[in-house]
Amino acid sequence: MNQETLSNLLSEHRLSNSSLDFLETIKFQEFHKDTPERFEIISYVNNSPDMARKIFESYYEVGFCDTYNLKTSDKKTEKQINLEKINEQRQSIRKFSSEPVSQEILGDFFRLFYTITGEEIKSMREQTLVRKKRNIASGGSMYPTEIFMINNKITELPKGAYRYNVFNFQLELIHKIETEEEMHELHKILMKTEGKSTTTDFENASVFLIFTSVLNKHSFKYQDFGLALSLIEIGEFIHAAYLASSALDIACCTYGSMINDKMSAYLDLKNPLHIPLTYMAIGNKVQEVANDISLA
Ligand SMILES: Cc1cc2nc3c(=O)[nH]c(=O)nc-3n(C[C@H](O)[C@H](O)[C@H](O)COP(=O)(O)O)c2cc1C
Repeated sequence: MNQETLSNLLSEHRLSNSSLDFLETIKFQEFHKDTPERFEIISYVNNSPDMARKIFESYYEVGFCDTYNLKTSDKKTEKQINLEKINEQRQSIRKFSSEPVSQEILGDFFRLFYTITGEEIKSMREQTLVRKKRNIASGGSMYPTEIFMINNKITELPKGAYRYNVFNFQLELIHKIETEEEMHELHKILMKTEGKSTTTDFENASVFLIFTSVLNKHSFKYQDFGLALSLIEIGEFIHAAYLASSALDIACCTYGSMINDKMSAYLDLKNPLHIPLTYMAIGNKVQEVANDISLA
């Protein structure tokens, strides 16, 4: 491999045609809104107590085998207790208070969710390299995930679409949302109604985080398996966002469906392999929900 091929590698994808086809088939398109089949089973499952019971009671079985009870330490450290509490209180909350989160809480959220945690000096073949460490792991340290944010309600910041810059701890305004109609159009791209639970409260969400992935990044090195790594990483980011929300006692819920290509256009994503995959609505808890949790 010569220097010239190497310098182009980061932008080359090396994904097979079947992986590229797969990516196209998992996207939601505008016409799916008029094709109920795509949402028929989802709606049926969401509204059927029998299905819900089956899902709640289903668990994996290996058959007959020796089993060993797990033991835990008698003493718990402060860190253990804190993580335990954060885990216990993590949940998907689809209703938000009409009072949006403050700019400071938003900053606290980003600090916990996805952040630079330090610096590491590495030596490689007599070269000294500096690597910024992050709270989230990434296969090959490739970090294909990019986080965008739509400010839906926070008053101290302009309404609009931003990219989160993890290195500078800044939000980069891509474009402003000036009118209610524009926000309404954006909610349509987020598929406000299709396949969503009826309790979903888009109007009161403070922000929407859009989890996107630059899918050529992992795959230039790992080929098709890189696609799996990139999708796995989105899951890590989602979970980190859930834990950050739990630690700050704010509400959040992830949503699977949006009109992917329209969101790409909306966020000005130029690379066809930079794909918005999922999103999360975040806001303050409404009082009843907050009480429910404290009773739990
Ligand atoms: C990747 C992902 C996609 C999800 N998509 C939706 C969705 O489209 N609509 C919804 O109401 N909840 C969605 N959820 C939330 C799940 O329904 C929720 O996590 C699950 O019911 C377990 O509940 P809990 O998070 O409160 O523990 C999603 C969660 C994840 C992780």
